[in-house]
Amino acid sequence: MLKRLGKPAPTQETPQPASPPAASPPAAVPPAAPAAAPAAAPPPLPKNVAAAPPAGLPPLPPATQDGSAQAPTIEVETDAQIRRKMLELSLSIVDRIQASLGAQSELKPSPETDKMLQERFGHFYRQANMPLSNENVELLFKMVKDELMGFGPMQQLLDNPDISEVMVNGPKHIYVEQKGKVRLSEVTFASDEHVLKIIDRIIRPLGRRVDRKWPMVDARLPDGSRVNAIIPPCAIDGPTITIRKFSKNKLTYKDLVKFGSITEDMAEFLRACVESKLNIVVSGGTGSGKTTLLNVLSNFIPDGDRIVTIEDSAELQLAKPHVVRLEAKPADIDGSGRVAIRDLVINSLRMRPERIVIGECRGGETLDMLQAMNTGHDGSLTTLHANTPRDAIARMETMSMMSGMDLPVDVIRSQIAAAVDLIVQQTRLEDGQRKVSSITEVQGMEGGTVVLQEIFKLDIKGKTSEGKLIAELKPTGVRPKFTTRLEAHGHKLPPSIFGFDMGRPRH
Ligand SMILES: Nc1ncnc2c1ncn2[C@@H]1O[C@H](COP(=O)(O)OP(=O)(O)O)[C@@H](O)[C@H]1O
Ligand SMILES: [Mg+2]
Repeated sequence: MLKRLGKPAPTQETPQPASPPAASPPAAVPPAAPAAAPAAAPPPLPKNVAAAPPAGLPPLPPATQDGSAQAPTIEVETDAQIRRKMLELSLSIVDRIQASLGAQSELKPSPETDKMLQERFGHFYRQANMPLSNENVELLFKMVKDELMGFGPMQQLLDNPDISEVMVNGPKHIYVEQKGKVRLSEVTFASDEHVLKIIDRIIRPLGRRVDRKWPMVDARLPDGSRVNAIIPPCAIDGPTITIRKFSKNKLTYKDLVKFGSITEDMAEFLRACVESKLNIVVSGGTGSGKTTLLNVLSNFIPDGDRIVTIEDSAELQLAKPHVVRLEAKPADIDGSGRVAIRDLVINSLRMRPERIVIGECRGGETLDMLQAMNTGHDGSLTTLHANTPRDAIARMETMSMMSGMDLPVDVIRSQIAAAVDLIVQQTRLEDGQRKVSSITEVQGMEGGTVVLQEIFKLDIKGKTSEGKLIAELKPTGVRPKFTTRLEAHGHKLPPSIFGFDMGRPRH
């Protein structure tokens, strides 16, 4: 049970069973760490440290019926207080272990290291004289290990497969995204310096650094997770870390169908579009599932095609035989040597690609991509940040202008209309569900505007009492103009996919 109040009201405890005093340190050992309990220890903490009543039960009444004044009064510690004490204790044990290791403080995970740490931990824990439940001793040991060899308090969040993002807003507020919902986690750092130490641990092996002069950095964890860190003076409330965890098992189209993110019909339609070499743009907000969908679409590419993928930070996982993966490169410490997505797009054209898959278009590379699409590199796929298909067109115009090529907007617009065949809109709904909210055909230009025709759409019908949206994905009843292209590639989709009965056998 988590109590949020800063100071818990003193609660009367039932008298403790006569238990032996907490294991006192043997005479020979030096005095305990500063974080340890004071020498004149009060009655030992209850065996299970969380002295609060189990969740669901009301708190103990303020006094026993006979008002037994002699019963010892113990301040009930909230979970947060216990966690804070444990954090302090873990850091003091870490300091002692590090001091005991001397010069060879660089630890590599191995069974021997584990054994050695267990012994030293046991020694220093006993010295600290802070009895904890067995469960919490185990947790404390994990905290110590994470501090020595992992990413400190964040490690347990990174290890949790249900958590997809970790957001550290200064030492005391760590948010996570778990199963699509963002929540404040119970984990904290000890101080700004503690967060800085972990940032340093992340970026040091990459030869990068962050300081007051240039207080931000992008990096990657060894498992591929993407990290951004920004520190004071630019981050006003303390060092801030944002981690997008690398999902080892990317979702497949079957998962998306199971989650209700797309229907079987939509998946079949999208597969036909990819196989028929349509140029497709996935549009959506941050964290809406663009990369996941791009991964699904890329896996629809036939096995024989040579694919070149271009990403800021390699996320795509293609189960395909003929793939060349390219990744952009940030500038070196002296500011030179940056290789942008744009450079890679231009280079990829000389690599005889049959498919170019660009992780995300964020700037001038959009124009290069459009030109590639218009010059025989059909079947290319990318994502971009926009909230509706119409927005996606506007975004492509703006990003093309960032290329520095001084093209008039109507020229850019007609390039977009000619290049892009389909926009697939991905949306994270307010209840956390992620869905393909629209599949829209780009039909061409008419009177200076790009003509869009929606083929599938999302109908929001209402909300359940738990706040979950009731939404239906359905065809609009319009058959796309590119149907003949699909047919030329052998995809004769039944009219029912598009929402009409024509062609169904009559009874
Ligand atoms: N359709 C979906 N249903 C449930 N979770 C999803 C879905 N699509 C993506 N996710 C999850 O959402 C998170 C963000 O997805 P990602 O594809 O990286 O988003 P984006 O590229 O738009 O920022 C990931 O953890 C991913 O596993
Ligand atoms: Mg992405």
